Amino acid sequence: MGKVLVIGCGGVASVAIHKICQNDEVFDELVIASRTVSKCDKLKEKLQNTTKTKISTAKVDADNVCELVNLIKETKPDVVLNLALPYQDLKIMDACLECKVHYIDTANYEPEDTAKFEYKWQWAYKEKFEKAGITALLGSGFDPGVTGVFSAYAMKHYFDEINYIDILDCNGGDHGYPFATNFNPEINIREVSAKGSYWENGHWVETEPMEIKRVYDFDEVGKKDMYLLHHEELESLALNIKGIKRIRFFMTFGQSYLTHLKCLENVGMTSIEPIMYEGKEIVPLQFLKAVLPDPASLGPRTKGKTNIGCIFIGKKDGKERKLYIYNVCDHEECYREVGSQAVAYTTGVPAMIGAMLVMKGIWQKAGVHNIEEFDPDPFMEALNKWGLPWKVCENPVLVD
Ligand SMILES: NC(=O)c1ccc[n+]([C@@H]2O[C@H](COP(=O)([O-])OP(=O)(O)OC[C@H]3O[C@@H](n4cnc5c(N)ncnc54)[C@H](OP(=O)(O)O)[C@@H]3O)[C@@H](O)[C@H]2O)c1
Repeated sequence: MGKVLVIGCGGVASVAIHKICQNDEVFDELVIASRTVSKCDKLKEKLQNTTKTKISTAKVDADNVCELVNLIKETKPDVVLNLALPYQDLKIMDACLECKVHYIDTANYEPEDTAKFEYKWQWAYKEKFEKAGITALLGSGFDPGVTGVFSAYAMKHYFDEINYIDILDCNGGDHGYPFATNFNPEINIREVSAKGSYWENGHWVETEPMEIKRVYDFDEVGKKDMYLLHHEELESLALNIKGIKRIRFFMTFGQSYLTHLKCLENVGMTSIEPIMYEGKEIVPLQFLKAVLPDPASLGPRTKGKTNIGCIFIGKKDGKERKLYIYNVCDHEECYREVGSQAVAYTTGVPAMIGAMLVMKGIWQKAGVHNIEEFDPDPFMEALNKWGLPWKVCENPVLVD
């Protein structure tokens, strides 16, 4: 049916690429392009005899629009799936505009020298994408991603208005290391060491990092400490969900992770301000990334499950209604299937689904759109089919 160009070949891309190859009725051709082409070649070698999808690889510097444009012109994909880092989003969007090709990503743009992620930079491309007649689907991972689809699904099938959303992201997995991050350490540490915030009655309420803590008993995982963080889907859901009064995002962290993080922060290792070291400029956080375990190496060691979902409180036919939609994913099962742990799996599967829906034309709408702006039903069906089945629970335990 069509051809996808995947940019980036790290933890999330590896899962999305496995899933693209499983879905070879839809994806006839796949180009894997990244900075380190040997990683793309290795994946091609592993997968090419397992699929009808024709795989090719290329080297690209996604910080360079010219290189990207040349690659897109040469390979002629129907969609570009950006699974590099948030720093590259705008450059890849520029290249898609020039070549008039649909664009999909999983994380919003973040300038490399400022730890601040916001949609404003990508939303500013709205008119350009409308004029070019192409779709940009933003945030097709799990959170953002499936959490937005769950919200749209709840709105469509269960509520007349949703007033409160709590997004709960629980990783109950154990990799046995005293400190490691489940996806790109630089992006992950920037996210969790930032101030927290939530959206309430039309404005943002800012908190100190990890200031708000709750305990929640997660299905198939058990009781975990979770902390309020700022997260990118809060920004778009606040605009797109009718009747919303408050949205919060909580993520679970173990005590060992927090103690290590505090210590690293205290000694300056999480800073993104460059320093001089032996005559060379280095960024402490990038150096830390280099000495931490590669998230890809966690796959074979991680046991346990993730549980990610949304609790909704709203109204239906004038009465209050409460609902919890969530997915539980087993680290070891993911590893057996695609050689990655569940954090990469829960992002890579929705990335493939988003690319599929845009490529098939089911989710095409010229402009720049967040995931909850589309009809959630085909995505929800695909989640069940492609490895992330979800559960709906009426009257769940709420977060105070
Ligand atoms: N929405 C969600 O639920 C969710 C969850 C987790 C992660 N994410 C997002 O998913 C994305 C990928 O995360 P990950 O954990 O897979 O990261 P990763 O393992 O570090 O992979 C990033 C890949 O991008 C490549 N890359 C980086 N800069 C590049 C450039 N200038 N040109 C070409 N390729 C470049 C890297 O190349 P090298 O191999 O040369 O380093 C690597 O292959 C990130 O944007 C992350 O924020 C989203």
